[in-house]
Amino acid sequence: MHFEQEGPIKILVVDDEVDICDGIKDVLEESGYYVKSACNGYEALDNLDREDFFHVVTLDMKMPGLSGIEVLQAIKKKNPDIAVIIVTGYGSLEVAVDAMRQGAHDYLIKPVDMEDMKVTIEKAIEKQRLTFENRRLLKDLEGMNEHLKIKFENLLNLSEASRQLCSVLNLEGLLESCLDVVANMMRSDRVSIMLVEPSSGEMVIKASRGINEEVVNNVRVRPGEGIAGRVASLGRPLRDIDFDLDEYRPPYNYTSKAFLSVPVCRKEKVIGVLNVTNRHNDESFSDDERDLLSILANQAATGFENAELYTNLEKTLNQVKTTQDQLIRSEKLASLGQLAAGIAHEINNPLAIISGCAQLLSILIAKKDKLTELDFKEINRDLATIIRETEHCGRLTENLLQFSRRSPQEAKPTDINELLKQTLSLVENQANLNKVKIIKKLAHGLPGIMVDHSQIRQVFLNMILNAAQAMPEGGEICIATRQAISSIEIIFQDAGVGIPEENLNSIFDPFFTTKKEGAGLGLFISQTIIERHKGSISVNSCVGEGTAFTISLPI
Ligand SMILES: Nc1ncnc2c1ncn2[C@@H]1O[C@H](COP(=O)(O)OP(=O)(O)OP(=O)(O)O)[C@@H](O)[C@H]1O
Ligand SMILES: [Mg+2]
Repeated sequence: MHFEQEGPIKILVVDDEVDICDGIKDVLEESGYYVKSACNGYEALDNLDREDFFHVVTLDMKMPGLSGIEVLQAIKKKNPDIAVIIVTGYGSLEVAVDAMRQGAHDYLIKPVDMEDMKVTIEKAIEKQRLTFENRRLLKDLEGMNEHLKIKFENLLNLSEASRQLCSVLNLEGLLESCLDVVANMMRSDRVSIMLVEPSSGEMVIKASRGINEEVVNNVRVRPGEGIAGRVASLGRPLRDIDFDLDEYRPPYNYTSKAFLSVPVCRKEKVIGVLNVTNRHNDESFSDDERDLLSILANQAATGFENAELYTNLEKTLNQVKTTQDQLIRSEKLASLGQLAAGIAHEINNPLAIISGCAQLLSILIAKKDKLTELDFKEINRDLATIIRETEHCGRLTENLLQFSRRSPQEAKPTDINELLKQTLSLVENQANLNKVKIIKKLAHGLPGIMVDHSQIRQVFLNMILNAAQAMPEGGEICIATRQAISSIEIIFQDAGVGIPEENLNSIFDPFFTTKKEGAGLGLFISQTIIERHKGSISVNSCVGEGTAFTISLPI
């Protein structure tokens, strides 16, 4: 430190022999040093007290009063940086060694050669200079280390802040999170985020800490107005030290001078401003802190964008869901209408036939006693027709009743292979009649699944009957079960007539049939039941080769 001060190098010459003392003093002064002399230990220490620092002290070891060693100890105690050069006579080498141990820089033997003295002093000064320089460098290094440590901590905070800001997807949560991060990092208790209102172009406080509600609700800032407005229009940060604050500062109760305001930009466009003030230590914000807050503001901008995208996505998703619900509802209504029309058609035909028969019967019965054999035959035929048509209607309503049952009410854990075997035992006789052979390829160890037995049995029956009906001349139906990733699949494969491609889209429609006696409800009902079980049904068919229906039920 003393080398950085202006002024000459200071030397104190201590010797009880006044001539020697003055001689050394003169020579050293000629060399440009500032020299003081003392002729005993007390005087030497007095000088040290007065001058605050001597770079070098030349110290005679043998003096009356305080000994050289005692003076050396006092000097080292006062300031260990002072270089002490011992001057001693022949035969006192031990004293010199002792002095060196106690911190003396070097020693000279009397009579002193002045050239030796100058060289020794120069060396001492050089060593001292290096010591001071080292110390200064070390201090600089420590300072830099501290600075790096702060920077590193800031980076860590920043990465943690980024992580926090990216993990919040709603705007409100994001703003709050952002305030917490900023208040913490900047050690401030007054933070606000202003965002530009697209409709008015003015900035309003969207979230804040330490600002009273009235201010929050009433502040509206145009670009260029006040500090925040200037930051928004300039698109760069401003600090208290950048300009005269009082000129721009609104009359809110700021308790500190330190102020930092940075723009929040998205794609080069300023969408708001982040303000920080009321710093705990009242220090101005550093360049590093300004840069840090700017990075944070950019992160926040990305977060805001994400939050907005997410909100829009959520909105769109909800819209899609509503539209989908409406679509499903309208489709349901359409299929209900279709169903009603089908029912009307299916029931109107037998009704017309029944009505016709009944009219004929009433005409015949009006003959009373005059009824002929032929009339009786006619009556029997009409009655048989009425019975047949009524049965047809009965089957139709039975089918519809089964179909209209609510969602699986009696679902219970089921071994699907067992249920399939039970169903087959119901139809085997009938199938045999049609010269149809059923081959089972059932997988082992299938997990149990929750199904309504009577409904799924109905589906299996429909599948088997359709397959049998597709092979009027007989053939094989292969029924296989297997486990898929999250479902069990049941496949009904026949070698029947197959389904023409143009019919593939219609076979699941209610009342679509290609059969003379068919109602066209089997597949429609089956599909409805399977969908109620959250499963699916699909078809693969080739005309002339056969058809495979695959039913998939969730595990
Ligand atoms: N395994 C199959 N092979 C060939 N065509 C089939 C097969 N299964 C269904 N179909 C076609 O799909 C139509 C609709 O079948 P669905 O079971 O719904 O009605 P249906 O069998 O005609 O009458 P219902 O089953 O109501 O007595 C059938 O008329 C037929 O054309
Ligand atoms: Mg059928």
